[in-house]
Amino acid sequence: MLKIIILAAGQGKRMRSALPKVLHPIAGKPMLAHVIDTARRLEPAKICVVYGHGGERVREALDAPDLVWAKQEPQLGTGHAVMQALPLLNATGAVPPAPTLVLYGDVPLIRAETLRRLVAAAGDDKLALLTAQLADPHGYGRIVRVDGKVARIVEEKDADDAERAIQEVNTGILVAPLAALARWLPQLSNRNAQGEYYLTDIVQLAVAEGMEVVTAQPEANWETDGVNSKSQLARLERIHQRNLAEALMEQGVTLADPDRIDIRGELVCGRDVFIDVNCVFEGRVELKDGARILPNCVIQDAVVGPHSIIGPFARLRPGTVLAEDVHIGNFVEVKNSTIAAHSKANHLAYIGDTTMGSRVNVGAGTITCNYDGANKHRTVIEDDVFIGSDTQLVAPVTVGRGATLGAGTTLTKDAPPGELTLSRAKQVSVPGWKRPVKKKKD
Ligand code: UD1
Ligand code: CA
Repeated sequence: MLKIIILAAGQGKRMRSALPKVLHPIAGKPMLAHVIDTARRLEPAKICVVYGHGGERVREALDAPDLVWAKQEPQLGTGHAVMQALPLLNATGAVPPAPTLVLYGDVPLIRAETLRRLVAAAGDDKLALLTAQLADPHGYGRIVRVDGKVARIVEEKDADDAERAIQEVNTGILVAPLAALARWLPQLSNRNAQGEYYLTDIVQLAVAEGMEVVTAQPEANWETDGVNSKSQLARLERIHQRNLAEALMEQGVTLADPDRIDIRGELVCGRDVFIDVNCVFEGRVELKDGARILPNCVIQDAVVGPHSIIGPFARLRPGTVLAEDVHIGNFVEVKNSTIAAHSKANHLAYIGDTTMGSRVNVGAGTITCNYDGANKHRTVIEDDVFIGSDTQLVAPVTVGRGATLGAGTTLTKDAPPGELTLSRAKQVSVPGWKRPVKKKKD
């Protein structure tokens, strides 16, 4: 049964942040959570995360019943890190065959398909390395082959000129039999340029034992790119977003520009959905058939009904559920509200904690006053209501079916169905009134 070790003890000094490196998000989700989710897709018997200094925050943020946590302190190298996980994987005594995959919390875009190929190549009794061919291999451990067979890995800092010229590099991701790791890791020494216990030194030990060392490669090199800086984080974010955009277009979604969409969660789209530039989707968002999202919208945990039109510059917050042909226009915010078919709020409005019927017209500048400073209250707007501009609905309040609210109304009591309700001072004109004029200086 497959076991997985995720190394996440590195401090990430180059991020220059109070947040532990592996908690920095890609697509709104911590890098380490991406790796854990990918690991889960392989259905392993166990996942062990190795965390380090300041890592309690990491553990608190991501702990789950299917994870075990090994603390590595101090951090003496990748070989030392993997060794900390062994007791938690029951790698003592007679160890049953268990291919063990080593992943990295700061290598967030590794694909499950690539890992499946590596695990398949390893079987129960081989050491399998994920390697990549790089035009510029600088900084990586190099794969040294003799007669085509992997002989060892040499780190950049320990390599001679000939070894530095090798372009096949170690991505760090590997699969080894658990029992072999338990045998090899205590034998590692730290007599090298960095004074660390290198995980990579297990390759020589495998070769010395006559164990077969095989390799597999990722389809794309970004899969194994690590994050050490904000710049690298931003680069992987763009790659990931582009991949998500490609998947949407593959499903038939029209994107005005696949490089100008941000999906931080799950975006589920029907047929013939159109998304214009600079829209951000967070949490779980559903866009039904024919929905159109115009430029610069932010939509979080919401459902947009079929043929509805959102934006430009609209914000749908959690709990928004829109039915068919609803229009939410510029500078309109909707939160925790359901809006039935053919209703429109096209300009400058706040609709919060509201149940709105069909064919309602919400005038410009309408605001539901849903918060009294202590509690939230609901507003109910029944079918066919017309709300004049600049109206405040002080919740809890109900506007009856077919009612009309005059512009500028502050509604504090229910409005009866079918009637015109308005609350504003009578308009007066003062005859003969003179505008003040500036006094002359003497
Ligand atoms: C390592 C590999 C190198 C490979 C490269 C790919 C070794 C000795 N070298 O080098 O061959 O080309 O990755 O990026 O393995 N970590 C811990 N505890 C530690 C040390 C590291 O958890 O004590 C974690 C780090 O958080 C990081 C990862 O292991 O996620 C790699 O560590 P790092 O020191 O960056 O290794 P490299 O020098 O990049
Ligand atoms: Ca590194």
